Amino acid sequence: MPVEFLGIAATNDGSETTARSGAAFDKEYTLRLARAHEDHGWDRVLFAYGSGSPDPAPAAAYIAARLDRLQILLAHRPNVSYPTFAAKTFATLDQISEGRLTVHFITGGNDHEQGREGDTLTKDERYARTREYIRIVKKIWTAHEPFDHEGEHYRFHDFVSDVFPVQQPRPKVSFGGSSPAAYAAGGAEADIYCLWGEPLEKTAQQIEAVKAAAEAAGRIDAPRIQVAFRPIIAPTEELAWEKAHRTLGAIRRRRQAGPARHHRNGVLEATAPQNTGSQRLIAIAEAGDRYDRALWTPTAAATGGAGNSNALVGTPETVARALLDYYDLGVDVLSARGYDLLDDAVDFGRYVIPLVREEVAKRDAERVAERDAERQGAYPAPGPHQSLTAVRG
Ligand SMILES: Cc1cc2nc3c(=O)[nH]c(=O)nc-3n(C[C@H](O)[C@H](O)[C@H](O)COP(=O)(O)O)c2cc1C
Repeated sequence: MPVEFLGIAATNDGSETTARSGAAFDKEYTLRLARAHEDHGWDRVLFAYGSGSPDPAPAAAYIAARLDRLQILLAHRPNVSYPTFAAKTFATLDQISEGRLTVHFITGGNDHEQGREGDTLTKDERYARTREYIRIVKKIWTAHEPFDHEGEHYRFHDFVSDVFPVQQPRPKVSFGGSSPAAYAAGGAEADIYCLWGEPLEKTAQQIEAVKAAAEAAGRIDAPRIQVAFRPIIAPTEELAWEKAHRTLGAIRRRRQAGPARHHRNGVLEATAPQNTGSQRLIAIAEAGDRYDRALWTPTAAATGGAGNSNALVGTPETVARALLDYYDLGVDVLSARGYDLLDDAVDFGRYVIPLVREEVAKRDAERVAERDAERQGAYPAPGPHQSLTAVRG
């Protein structure tokens, strides 16, 4: 199965290491960054959501209208709109982008941040609401007759949308979270399940939890798995590690300076994170700085486990091999974001993406050849239940 690369669609040039140079919505930078992804081999970019941040939906529409190939992953929090309204926004955006939209449904990991926009539910209640919301959105995307909905969180009558997505039967649903409630909701509803980069062993455990939840929900398939990292690459290992330590120093200085404390969705970092995903990252960092081939955790520790924060450090070859280790676990969407968002997107696209794609194509071809050989040896012809196209174990 071909691998996909997800980058970031920031609306300004700020990061954990650098203060932004202009407004929160810097229109020119937003386009420049997205174009850098499109021009350097990325498949898709994430438009994230924060309570005070520019609204990602119109920003995504702007990028979709200006670029031809880049796909869009739009983060959306159910608490900020009614599902009928959201489903029409998504369908319209799928029209504008000519079928390039995926929606990332966010439950919200912090009560205080959720409360900023009027959300008073607990995290587990929010997951139940997200699940109901996703089911409604999926139905609206595909229903051509008016219908009623009587649920726990939403009730409406006689609704039918007059705008439908280009993608048939519907755009893909992406989902993230690492708590049992997240696995249950995402395992049931997601097409793509997103994890933050953890050591291989822990990632394998999370993948199993997602698969088990999908099976428990009665699915015959399982979500594809996405894993996110912060690559730090340089021409030699030595230079990459120097860069990694420089990056860590810049993160620490910026956080000590004050305003950067607001980075994680505007939530003050002094409080311990409430979301399981961040708690896991902190525990992993406390247990060790380095894991596997290139995973480095001090960047996660320094940000209080703020989302995608574990680094992969090394030459492009080392980082590509590290990513392929995750591919071998069953991860086929690789998400990456540097600290200098624009330059790092260009470098990663130039030096890492081609290496990974080439090796994935080789591995896939070898697997197909091996299976074909096995089948020809064991059976004269494949039975009706055997797929000739399934290439991964
Ligand atoms: C890849 C990925 C992207 C995410 N993007 C956002 C985001 O843009 N805004 C946000 O508030 N939460 C975001 N989240 C947070 C989760 O959707 C989830 O609400 C939170 O981590 C609760 O997690 P828990 O189940 O681990 O406790 C993201 C999570 C992942 C894995």
